[in-house]
Amino acid sequence: MGNLTFTMIKPDAVRANNHAKILQHLVDAGFRIVALRMWCMSRNDAMRFYAVHKGKPFFEPLVEFMTSGPIIAAVLEKEDAVAELRKTVGATDPEKAEEGTVRRLYGASVRQNAIHASDSDENARIEWSIHFDEADIMV
Ligand code: CMP
Repeated sequence: MGNLTFTMIKPDAVRANNHAKILQHLVDAGFRIVALRMWCMSRNDAMRFYAVHKGKPFFEPLVEFMTSGPIIAAVLEKEDAVAELRKTVGATDPEKAEEGTVRRLYGASVRQNAIHASDSDENARIEWSIHFDEADIMV
């Protein structure tokens, strides 16, 4: 279990101007932001990012949504970072997410669920490499 994970604040949360509150929520939960970038992913970037979901019925609308506006990508540091972040973020469906989690607080629907959190150390590395060069990570 590593000390780094990857997160992405999605276009719905940026549009709603909730991104600073979400970053503060992560800091208050004990994470250190060690890389940060606001940008718009291309269709190709989003398809690469969500390649594991290719072929699922929600893939195309997901790519469409993820390219509908700017996102905020961040690498976060904390002991047991992957598991800790998934706890802080909550279940994929905001209605099923625990009280006080980021998705419960800021997510609107199963697709527009405010934030992404990597599900393993290996995927975190693959995912942050779509957003950052290794030299951008301040560890
Ligand atoms: P995320 O954790 O970023 O990983 C895949 C994303 O696909 C997920 O959050 C949701 O935004 C979206 N997603 C997953 N399941 C569904 C679904 N059943 N319907 C619509 N979108 C989904």
